[in-house]
Amino acid sequence: MKKTITIGSDHAGYSLKIKVIGHLKEIGWDVIDVGTNDESSCDYPDFAHAVCKNIQDGVTELGILICGTGIGMSMAANKHHGIRAAACSDTFSARLTREHNNANVLCFGERVVGYGVACDLVDAFLNAEFQGGKHQRRIDKIMDLEKTEF
Ligand code: RB5
Repeated sequence: MKKTITIGSDHAGYSLKIKVIGHLKEIGWDVIDVGTNDESSCDYPDFAHAVCKNIQDGVTELGILICGTGIGMSMAANKHHGIRAAACSDTFSARLTREHNNANVLCFGERVVGYGVACDLVDAFLNAEFQGGKHQRRIDKIMDLEKTEF
């Protein structure tokens, strides 16, 4: 069965997003692109919300968000219940954030990483698996914070 991922960007991540979608298709993923659809100035929280909504609704398990730095997208995404988003610019972090943090959204910045690194980040993230065990206990504590702090 083909795997599907949701992707979104703002204007500052649009050009890299189009290339990353091409890479995702090459490595066998179906992609739901929730916008933005050109380089006109827009607000990254709108697209973070659209990606997170798809995950919360069970449309896809994973998402990718691209803005200028990846940071604003990760901040907006992490305001959603059940979302664990990580802004990464190195492959070690992209792998570990799934293995240890069970991240479900990978964020990165077009102004930070080039196409080659972006593809490596995507591969590291998608090929990694959550390790469970003591890491699950810590994830549970993060999820508990959602109940008291949100
Ligand atoms: C847009 O100029 C820029 O602020 C945005 O893409 C992102 O980098 C925010 O974190």
